Amino acid sequence: MADLEAVLDEAGLTNPKVREFVKEYAELTGAEHVEVVNASDDARLLEEAVAAGELQRAGEGRYYSRSYYKDTARSEERTIVATSDEKDRGVYNNWRPASEMKPMLHDRMRGASEGKTMYVIPYLMAPAGNPLEPWAAGVELTDTRTVVLHMIRMARVGVQFVNDLEDPDSFVRAVHVTGDLEHLGQGTPDDQRYFVTVADERTILHFGSSYGGNALLGKIAHGLRQGAYDGWASRKFLAEQYMLIGIHDKETGRTYHVCGGFPSASGKTNLAMMAAPDALGDRYHVSFYGDDIAWLWVDEESGRLMGMNPEYGVFGVAKDTNETTNPNALASIEEGTQAIFTNVAYNPTTGEVWWEGRTPKPPSNVKGWLDWTGAPLADRKDNDTAAWAHPNSRFTTTLDNVPNIAPDYDAPAGVPIDAIIFGGRTRDREPLIRAITDLAEGVYDGLTLGAEATFAAEGVDGQLRYDPMSNRPFMAYGEGDYARHYLDVVGAAKEQPIFAHVNWFQKDPDDGHFLWPGYRDNLRPLLWLLQLKNGEVSGRRTAVGIIPTEDELDLTGMDVPAADLERILTIDKERWQQEMGFREEHLSQFERMPEEIWEAHRRVAADLDAED
Ligand code: GDP
Ligand code: PGA
Ligand code: MN
Ligand code: MN
Repeated sequence: MADLEAVLDEAGLTNPKVREFVKEYAELTGAEHVEVVNASDDARLLEEAVAAGELQRAGEGRYYSRSYYKDTARSEERTIVATSDEKDRGVYNNWRPASEMKPMLHDRMRGASEGKTMYVIPYLMAPAGNPLEPWAAGVELTDTRTVVLHMIRMARVGVQFVNDLEDPDSFVRAVHVTGDLEHLGQGTPDDQRYFVTVADERTILHFGSSYGGNALLGKIAHGLRQGAYDGWASRKFLAEQYMLIGIHDKETGRTYHVCGGFPSASGKTNLAMMAAPDALGDRYHVSFYGDDIAWLWVDEESGRLMGMNPEYGVFGVAKDTNETTNPNALASIEEGTQAIFTNVAYNPTTGEVWWEGRTPKPPSNVKGWLDWTGAPLADRKDNDTAAWAHPNSRFTTTLDNVPNIAPDYDAPAGVPIDAIIFGGRTRDREPLIRAITDLAEGVYDGLTLGAEATFAAEGVDGQLRYDPMSNRPFMAYGEGDYARHYLDVVGAAKEQPIFAHVNWFQKDPDDGHFLWPGYRDNLRPLLWLLQLKNGEVSGRRTAVGIIPTEDELDLTGMDVPAADLERILTIDKERWQQEMGFREEHLSQFERMPEEIWEAHRRVAADLDAED
């Protein structure tokens, strides 16, 4: 491409290392054009995408897209962390040698963008000026315009983020090539897709998908996998699949910051967008910092554990989002927000969108409606009960649209962390909340997080599995080393956060209803946790943590059946004793697991046996 230098000049992309990187991959992929993207290009790119049929209008200032029907979730099996050192092999990171994976990906990418435009997206995964900024800059190259539009919503995008790097080489090189989606053998033995993070080279090579979780490289590959690796290699920080919220108490004037890891599609976004329950809204306000990723570090001056959200938008699960469960989410995706929906049901005549749980019943007049695959609902047979929207259908919107966005979400300093919680979909055993005051026991608890897998990953929906720290799909290096690093980072803080394990998903074993209404009411157990930290309540001690007594939990304005409440505030001792055996097996798989973690395990097991 003879005019590449001129294109980069005109775009004001001055970093010589970025220019070399662009050139290398423009040649390899055979792209016909190169275009450098800034956030200010959004309106034009939206118009182009509509004109090209890649997006449709969903009313004014709102858009609809459909991904290929075999390309609707993250593929964990095809996701690989590669390095040059086999010591980086973990149980979950699908480690492979960089020397094997890089050439393989280059082969797949060779010529695969012929005739297409390669977009150059410079981005920053941090608020500008944050202490972790040296690890936050990146450049994603992609051959798909809708990926660009999603990246503009999900990350801070613009050439200024890479032009002025102190070390011009210190950006993550992220390459996304979609490939011929109809001929990639998704899910067959001949699967052509590969999603590789070459972590020790800070290079990300993803081939074979345009679904957000595989294609938005700033978010998942850099924000989580590469971030985790860099945080460990530099000994400076943690990159976690955490939401991050502020809980403001108007009566005392205090704001607490709580972060926490739940596996994909297990409640992070809903918790972060939470409107306090009506009965508590006069006193408490929940503010949104982040809903999927938090980077944590210890501030050198204050010695406090700090956190920030490296993202700039929300990639939320649509299912069950409605006025009752999450009014803030609905407000963030109204017309005029420039939000993009993916794989929901759509009515091209009226521009409406719908998903399961949006309203109790689907629109009664199916005329004009298309399901997520694009098939007219009017043509369906009466006994066809397939969902209208894909269970992993999503909305994408920027943080400016989130009504409860924290006023200081963009502050370079980040916020001090008071509590770290873990949770997941667990139908039995796990109570509503159990608090843990000891660091090693908190980390042990995170490492043994067991939950049902969800539709956010291909082919595992509903399987009960361990998902350490909710990071199983994003683990970048060995789990034992990870535990050591976690203990070191958090242990260096002057004031320790309180830990807790929460579960909004316990079910009645007989009729299967959720024992806790969840959503906005999840604020209540969190308030109890903060009161416990402040010494205002004392709870009930059990072997697996401190549990609220019924009268400590503020249930004003709620109506939970007594039997349900009792069940979610009780420990099932036998079930837990059985669980300890599984945990032992689980932890034994990991090399170099710190002795503190084993000690915590033995302490919990002994306390369980001693309980009557
Ligand atoms: P994330 O992927 O972890 O951010 O999870 P989301 O907040 O997007 O929620 C995933 C799914 O779980 C959505 O369908 C939500 O409606 C549902 N969900 C979230 N919070 C709760 C809760 O407290 N109770 C119940 N029953 N469902 C919830
Ligand atoms: P989620 O984000 O955790 O909000 O579902 C996307 C993902 O993890 O795939
Ligand atoms: Mn996630
Ligand atoms: Mn989410």
